[in-house]
Amino acid sequence: MFAWMTLEGAVLLLILGHLSMFEDSTKQWVLITLALRAITAGMAVPAFLGTAATFAGFGLLLAMLPTMPRKCALGSLVLGVITTSVASSMYELPDLGVQLIFCASALIFAYRMYVVAMTFVATAKATLAFPLLPHLFPAYSFTRERFFRADAPPEEVAERREKAFNRMQEHWDGKWPKSLEVGKALRGCFSDLRFAAGNRVFLPFAKILDQWCDPVTVVDRVDRMVLTDVDGHENIDIAGSYGVNVVGYERYKKFITDGWELTKNVGCVLGPVHPILMRNIEILKEISGKEEVSFHMSGTEAVMSCVRLARFNTGRKLIVLFGGAYHGWWDGVQPIAGNERIGTDILTLVDLSPASLAVIKMRAHEIAAVLVNPLQSFHPNQPPPSDLVLATDNRNAKESDKYKNFLGKLREVCSATGIVFVFDEVYTGFRLAPGGAQEYFGVSADMVCYGKTLGGGMPNGIVCGPSALMNRSDAGKPLRVAYVIGTFAAHPLLLGSMNGFLEWVRTDEARALYAKNRKMVADWSKETNALLEKEGIPLRTASYASVWTMLYKQPGRYHWMLQYYLKDEGINLSWVGTGRLNFSLDFEEQDLELVRGKMIAACRRMKEDGWWWYDPEQAKKNAMKIKLSLGLELLTAFVKTRILGFFAGGPASAQSKKSE
Ligand SMILES: Cc1ncc(COP(=O)(O)O)c(C=O)c1O
Repeated sequence: MFAWMTLEGAVLLLILGHLSMFEDSTKQWVLITLALRAITAGMAVPAFLGTAATFAGFGLLLAMLPTMPRKCALGSLVLGVITTSVASSMYELPDLGVQLIFCASALIFAYRMYVVAMTFVATAKATLAFPLLPHLFPAYSFTRERFFRADAPPEEVAERREKAFNRMQEHWDGKWPKSLEVGKALRGCFSDLRFAAGNRVFLPFAKILDQWCDPVTVVDRVDRMVLTDVDGHENIDIAGSYGVNVVGYERYKKFITDGWELTKNVGCVLGPVHPILMRNIEILKEISGKEEVSFHMSGTEAVMSCVRLARFNTGRKLIVLFGGAYHGWWDGVQPIAGNERIGTDILTLVDLSPASLAVIKMRAHEIAAVLVNPLQSFHPNQPPPSDLVLATDNRNAKESDKYKNFLGKLREVCSATGIVFVFDEVYTGFRLAPGGAQEYFGVSADMVCYGKTLGGGMPNGIVCGPSALMNRSDAGKPLRVAYVIGTFAAHPLLLGSMNGFLEWVRTDEARALYAKNRKMVADWSKETNALLEKEGIPLRTASYASVWTMLYKQPGRYHWMLQYYLKDEGINLSWVGTGRLNFSLDFEEQDLELVRGKMIAACRRMKEDGWWWYDPEQAKKNAMKIKLSLGLELLTAFVKTRILGFFAGGPASAQSKKSE
C-alpha cells in the first residue's frame, strides 16, 4: 500500500511538474525535490533521509506561498487538510513528511489548476493552434480551370473572368516591360521580395498568379506622393512605405539632406557622439514624458531591447501580448503561424477582455511587461489585415472607445502590481497625433518604443523609459548585466534627419496639419462610402487617423484581385494589399479626389469582369457556401498531401518536395 501511495504521489507531482512550464524555474525545482522525495520513499531509503528531503521540499513550498492570494491559499490549505484526513482514514500513512507532501500537493495543485484554467479562458485561442497549424495546413493550388470557378459561378462569368485575366497580362507586358524584367531578375536573388510576393494572395491562387502579372514597382523618382516608375508611369502611393511616410515624402527628403548637411563633417563615426544627439534626446524626453532614451536600428530591435530591459529590471520572465498584435519579426514576440519557436515565456491574451485583466493581476508576480500595439484599437484581436488571409468578407475594422477604456484599466493593473506597461508605438508614434498613442488615448505608458517615421526617413528604433527601467546593470551584482547595445546606435546621419523631423513635428504648422488631415480623411472615407454604395460596389472604407483600410461587404473569393486593378489604375499598394493603407499629411483634397476616382474606376472594372459575381438569391447562403467549399478544399488537400503522401513516400520525401 505504501509503494502504491508513493506512486500516486509521484504521478501527481509529475503532473504538477508539467504544469510548471507556466511558471518559473525555481518552482520547477521545488516540484523536482518533492518528486525525488516520493521516489526515495518508494525505494525505502533510510527513513531519516526521506524525512529530511521532505522537510527541505516543504520548506521550499512554503516559500512559494506568498505569491498566492490569501483567500486562495487558505481555501487550498483547508482542501489539503481534508484530502490528508481522507487519505489517512484509507491508508496507514508512514510519516508526517508524507502527510505534509499530500497536504501541500493538494494545495498547490488546486491553485495551479485555477490559474491554468483562468489563463486558458483569457488566452487568444488562435495562438493555441499556431504551433500545430503550419504542420496541418496543406499546400494546394488551383488548376487553371478551377482558378476562375472557385465560387461555382455561371459559365459565362468564368469565361468573362478568364478573358479579363488574359487581357490584363497582355496589357501589363506592354505597359511595364522594364519593371517586369527587373522584378523577374530580383525574384531569383532578392529573398525579401520573393517572400513578400509569395504572401500576397490567398494560397491556392498564388501558383498561377506567379506566372501572371508582377505588381512590383521599380521606382525612379518621387514627387510628393507620386512614384514614377522606370517605365515612366505615375503611381499614387497609398501604402506609405509600411507606415514610415506620415508627414509626406518631400519633407523626408529635406530632413535627410538637411541632416546630412548638419552631420557630414563627422560622416559615419560611431562611438563618439554628435552634439545634436543631446537636442534629440531633450525633445524625445519631452514628447514621451520619460527620463531616458536608447537608440536602435529598427522597430524590431527597439521591442527586443524593451522586453529584455523589462525582464532584467523586474526579475520576472513573462511578457503579455494581445491577440493579433504585431511587434516586429523577432520570434520572441510572435505567437503566430510563421514562427518555428513560439516562446513559453509569453502569454497572448484577448484584447478588451476582463478575463485578461484578471489573469494579469493573478500572475503579476511572473509578468515583467504588458506590451500593447495601439494600432489594435482599429481591429482588436485580429492580425494585421492582409489580402493573404482574405477569403470571404471576414475582415473588420473600426475605431472604438472601448480600447481607450481598456488601456486605462491596463494602466491601473500595471501600476498596482509593478508590471512594466509598454506601448509599442513603432507604427502609431507620431501618426495618431504628434505625441502618438499616449496623447491620442490620454494614457501614459512606462516605456515606449518608436521607429519608422521618427528617423525622418532613416532606419531607426527608439526606446524611452524611466531610468530605473532603462538600467542595464545591477549595482549589487556587477556581473549581472543586460547586454543590449548595437554598432549603429545613434548614427550621425540618423541623428541629423531625426532632428529635422522632431523639430518640425512640434511646430504649430504640424499640429494644425494633423488635425486637418484627420478630419479630411474621415470625411473622405464617409463620402467615398456613399459613392461606392451608389455605384453598387461591394466595398467600403474605414479610417483611424491617417491609417485606413478597404473592407468587403459581401462574401467572395476574389477580393484580392482588386489590388491588381488598383495597380493598373495607377495606385501603389504594399504586399499586404488593400488591408493596410496610409495617407500622409501632405495629401490635399484634390489628391484624395484622385485616389477616389482611381478606386472607383478599378472597382467598376473588377465588377464588370465578373470577379464580384454574386447570386443575390443566395445572399444568406453565400458565405456558408464559400466556407464549406474552402473546408472541403483543405480537407481534400490534407488527405492527398499528408495522408496519401505519407504512404506514398513518407514524411521525408514530402519535406524534400517542399523545399525544392
Ligand atoms: C507595432 C510595430 N512594432 C514593431 C515593428 C517592427 O519594426 P521594423 O519593421 O522597423 O523592425 C512594426 C513594423 O511594422 C510595428 O508595426
